[in-house]
Amino acid sequence: MINQPKILVIDDEPLMRISVADALIAEGYEVKGVESGREGMDLICKNAYDVIMTDLKLPEVDGLEILKTALKCFPKSKVIMITAYGSVDTAVEAMKQGAYDYITKPFSMDELLIIVKRLIEFRELEYENIKLKNEIGEQYTFEGMVGNSVKMQEVLEKVKVVADTGSTVLITGESGTGKELIANAIHHNSSRKDNPFIKVSCAALPESLLEAELFGYEKGAFTGALKQKKGRFELAHSGTLFLDEIGEISPAIQVKLLRVLQERQFERLGGTETLNVDVRIICATQRDLKKEAKQGVFREDLYYRLNVVPIHIPPLRERKEDILLLASGFVKKFAAQNNKPIQCISEKAKELLFHYPFPGNVRELEHAMERAVILGNSKEIQPADLPDDMLNFYNKDLKTSIKISYAEPLSKAIEHFEKEFIIKAIDETKGNKTLAAVKLGISRKTLWEKCKNYGLDKAK
Ligand SMILES: Nc1ncnc2c1ncn2[C@@H]1O[C@H](COP(=O)(O)OP(=O)(O)OP(=O)(O)O)[C@@H](O)[C@H]1O
Ligand SMILES: [Mg+2]
Repeated sequence: MINQPKILVIDDEPLMRISVADALIAEGYEVKGVESGREGMDLICKNAYDVIMTDLKLPEVDGLEILKTALKCFPKSKVIMITAYGSVDTAVEAMKQGAYDYITKPFSMDELLIIVKRLIEFRELEYENIKLKNEIGEQYTFEGMVGNSVKMQEVLEKVKVVADTGSTVLITGESGTGKELIANAIHHNSSRKDNPFIKVSCAALPESLLEAELFGYEKGAFTGALKQKKGRFELAHSGTLFLDEIGEISPAIQVKLLRVLQERQFERLGGTETLNVDVRIICATQRDLKKEAKQGVFREDLYYRLNVVPIHIPPLRERKEDILLLASGFVKKFAAQNNKPIQCISEKAKELLFHYPFPGNVRELEHAMERAVILGNSKEIQPADLPDDMLNFYNKDLKTSIKISYAEPLSKAIEHFEKEFIIKAIDETKGNKTLAAVKLGISRKTLWEKCKNYGLDKAK
């Protein structure tokens, strides 16, 4: 079941918008109502709505454009067009383009609720299908990317849909979340796959060098320019250019880039000939460019040119279901590379990995597994094979907080709680088990047994 289906209502008539939203909220849906198409498009790009209801006729951005964005950004959204009496032809056209249904004004709330309920049931079926796939162990992998979580599956689906469109893509996410891997997957699933995939790390080069790298230069353009050199834009012709860490480029280069994006034209440094290129652009950044554009730190016009299709990769701590799957994959890979017999991870080490917040995301997990495979002496990865950061976090975390996670059954959660409770009591009594047992209201023998079960006797 979807926890609480999310619905977006876009209508510039306040009365209509509010009454539709109220009726849907009363049914238990999470509803957001907005009046402008632009605001709606913005939300659609950032959130996965189960159902989008939009008026067909809106000032500025109309319902058909909203439909297009919805299909591009989150293809699983079901779009319902609200049309005025007499514009049924356009509504039918919208359905041909991928809308799920339309409803003609004036309509009764009952009529509307029936349509929405049917769509939500359909969404739930799709959702169950994905879950079932996971349960029967069908791993969701794509181009070497592993991800069992619903969040990651949504990312991968978006990658598949957008790959062959040629649209500019902006990939965002914390360090080590897999931005470069996604950029690779997009290129290799596009019709440009046999043409060049050129990568430029914008943070690695100072401004003048970056400009020369991107656009190339003519002989004599500057001291040291001994012969003509093609830039990365030219080299990427008919293929894809991946501009990594795009948030780091200087204002001067932002202007130049904007021109290439708008006109697909540029000149080499020191040159007069205007060159035309056919390049698909993919960018990546860890920064919040939208915020920076609003603050005037990054050009707003460039931001909108780059953010045609946004793909956000959530940090690993927000998709904990992926941790163990990724970890096992890495163990197998590094064991094969290093000729080690290790094939799995002990239960204790799994627990530790599961609770760790992974500030360095997948890269941190990958390095930890590589190290563990190389250092490990037994057939299974043990906690002692993991980096100190992980061990320390686990010990500290257990003493100070109780982690609530629905990824484990109640019986396991109770065990965790009990363990934390005991550790806290032993800590507070500075290791005096008799006093700790009194505090906990259990006999010393029971405490001793529990400590043994939880492996706490070794810690003290
Ligand atoms: N879903 C995944 N499945 C398998 N491997 C992954 C996945 N995501 C990331 N990785 C691995 O994690 C490492 C980091 O990924 P990548 O370099 O793409 O991250 P990034 O977001 O570009 O990081 P940074 O912002 O630091 O440049 C790579 O070795 C990559 O292969
Ligand atoms: Mg990267």
